[in-house]
Amino acid sequence: MSRLVVISNRVALPSAHGAAGAQGGLAGALDAALKARGGLWFGWSGQEHEDPSAAPAMQTRDSVTFATIDLSPQDVEEYYNGYANETIWPLFHYRLDLTKFELETGRGYERVNERFAAAVAPLVGPDDIVWVHDYHLIPLGQNLRRRGIRNRMGFFLHIPWPPTRLLVSLPFHQRLVRTLLDYDVVGFQCDEWLTSFQHYCRAELGAEVNETTGAVTVEGRTTIARAYPIGIDFDHLRALAETGEARQMAQRVLSSTRRRTAMIGVDRLDYSKGLPERMDGVARFFDRNPDRVGELVFIQIAPPSREAIGSYQQIRALLEQKTGQINGALSRVDLVPVRYVNQGHSLAELIGVYRASKIGLVTPLRDGMNLVAKEYVAAQDPGDPGVLILSRFAGAAQQLDDALLINPHSPDDIASAIRDALDMPLDERIARWRPMFECVRDQNIQNWTADILRDLEA
Ligand code: F6P
Repeated sequence: MSRLVVISNRVALPSAHGAAGAQGGLAGALDAALKARGGLWFGWSGQEHEDPSAAPAMQTRDSVTFATIDLSPQDVEEYYNGYANETIWPLFHYRLDLTKFELETGRGYERVNERFAAAVAPLVGPDDIVWVHDYHLIPLGQNLRRRGIRNRMGFFLHIPWPPTRLLVSLPFHQRLVRTLLDYDVVGFQCDEWLTSFQHYCRAELGAEVNETTGAVTVEGRTTIARAYPIGIDFDHLRALAETGEARQMAQRVLSSTRRRTAMIGVDRLDYSKGLPERMDGVARFFDRNPDRVGELVFIQIAPPSREAIGSYQQIRALLEQKTGQINGALSRVDLVPVRYVNQGHSLAELIGVYRASKIGLVTPLRDGMNLVAKEYVAAQDPGDPGVLILSRFAGAAQQLDDALLINPHSPDDIASAIRDALDMPLDERIARWRPMFECVRDQNIQNWTADILRDLEA
């Protein structure tokens, strides 16, 4: 079996495990994929250094070697805060209004991709399979090819791929997208993002696309592009549900909500997650159902993310304002309708909160997949499962279509789904939950890795 070399911006270093809700889905997923197979994981250490060393720092845990480099403050500003998170992230989440187009940050992005290539290329052996992840590192494959790396090389995009009409507003969009054709396999979270990619390749690059095989051919060079929906580490998660940590957390939620129904949201504090819109939906539910204020406690866990970026500071302020308004209007001495928590939690603790919450509220405005939805389903008690309310604009909605699917832009849609969830009889809850549970059990992280590697090895 070839060795796996995973390259991503963020690395879940054994010495610095982040709280699950704060690190996003990528780090947890890759951790599981690498643990099972062993290999090398290369990326940014998360540290800034005025004059960073070119050689990576190495550490090994079990069968995984971690190799990381530091970045300079200018690198972080231009590559991470700038081009990755103020250009690609908003544009790919359909937020042209928040997208910045700056030549300087584009240059920083290319420079850091070249630094990654220079640092990782000497670590790649001739038979290794190289697997690059996410929007920070789109051009990395091209940089590696230019350095003579001929290995099988795949790329997976964890976020949406935008419609062509939006993508063409990016200066030098062709230059960026063409670099993807240096990979042998390019993976997307769901068919919607894959279709948009194929459309772009046909319309802008004159590609021939074979929808059966996934082959995208431009000027004689073929890349396989397919949808591989990412899953969760199902067995690990079910095992975590049995731990003292998870049980104690479930008990804390239950004893502090008493006879009220707990409804849970867990998201990085990001504008793509639709958090202010979600609060509007919750407020609308209380407005329309004043007699039910005492029935529901909404717990929103939202660890701050990318705090140096203005749009993230603004969304945080807006969310705090909306939460304050609901609680100010509706709290009583013995009742607070919304618990807003900035702190991150371990995965075991989150599983406990999911298990104790009879409604899971997952309402991103746009999301590549959304693993919180899958974790919520996996954590439920089979005899008394909760109800998942899910945005139709999350990649996960294409698989979890037995959830209550809503339009996250509509406060009325959210409010009526909350009412339906509160009133849903047990037999309907079980009937909706069971196929979703089977889906997250069967289409898990191990199968996701195996599917992509099978295509890469073929
Ligand atoms: O899943 C999308 C993603 O951007 C990952 O690439 C990333 O690791 C995660 O969200 C969290 O974001 P960040 O690494 O910027 O904290």
